[in-house]
Amino acid sequence: LKRIRIPHLQAMKERGERWAMLTAYDQYAAEIFDAAGIPVLLVGDSAGNNVYGYETTLPVTVDELIPLVRAVARAARHSLVVADLPFGSYQGSPQQALETATRFMKEGLAHAVKLEGGKHVVPAVELLTQAGIPVMAHVGFTPQSEHALGGYRVQGRGDSADTLVQDACELEKAGAFSIVMEMVPAEVAARVTEVLHIPTIGIGAGAECDAQVLVWQDMAGLRGGKAPRFVKRYADLRTVLSDAARAYADDVAKGTFPDAEHSFQH
Ligand code: KIV
Ligand code: NA
Repeated sequence: LKRIRIPHLQAMKERGERWAMLTAYDQYAAEIFDAAGIPVLLVGDSAGNNVYGYETTLPVTVDELIPLVRAVARAARHSLVVADLPFGSYQGSPQQALETATRFMKEGLAHAVKLEGGKHVVPAVELLTQAGIPVMAHVGFTPQSEHALGGYRVQGRGDSADTLVQDACELEKAGAFSIVMEMVPAEVAARVTEVLHIPTIGIGAGAECDAQVLVWQDMAGLRGGKAPRFVKRYADLRTVLSDAARAYADDVAKGTFPDAEHSFQH
């Protein structure tokens, strides 16, 4: 298996082959998902609330994300590694976006970057694309704008559907190689998938997107509490890890670990 590159993703769209993206923030997750054949790994700013313990993605910084991107890029042998540009690191101007994206490519060893927003980020997408940096766009519910959007809400309902479709078209025209659609009505996501030539990646965007994405800790049941409606849990890692930690602590308390098998004799 060779390195997945953007033309492969484009070819999959043309063949109607669906694919899965997962987030990854460290070496083992990257290694495991890469070996499992996940073609694209996203080092999301969701590291804010899945690695760094913040409540949202807003506080996470470029300096916090770059080491995670580098770890994933070094561990992934086949997967394309996409680095999310965090809140405040690209909205100021296309030049700011280029400077930030360049750091992710140089220091983070990323293969592409992702940024949020509709037509107002089109100039940034154009500049990055011209500079040779592949851009994944992100429309619909954009978590970095959660306060402006009034919380976690489905976007693109009613009259705003047309704006979403237009934004997606403009982002494609600006050079985006793919586009995430988050919390968008299934019919609207299907419309975008139909009109765009680049792959669409859904999260809470119905079954008609070309690809899907989930935060890996959601997918594997590592995070506790109630998950959003669009999350499906494929494992219960939280229970697995919790049971392992308790069994280990129990053994130590009882004196059954370490035993002779796990000790050195002279
Ligand atoms: O940061 C993230 O994990 C994301 C995906 C959910 C698309 O942006
Ligand atoms: Na993100």
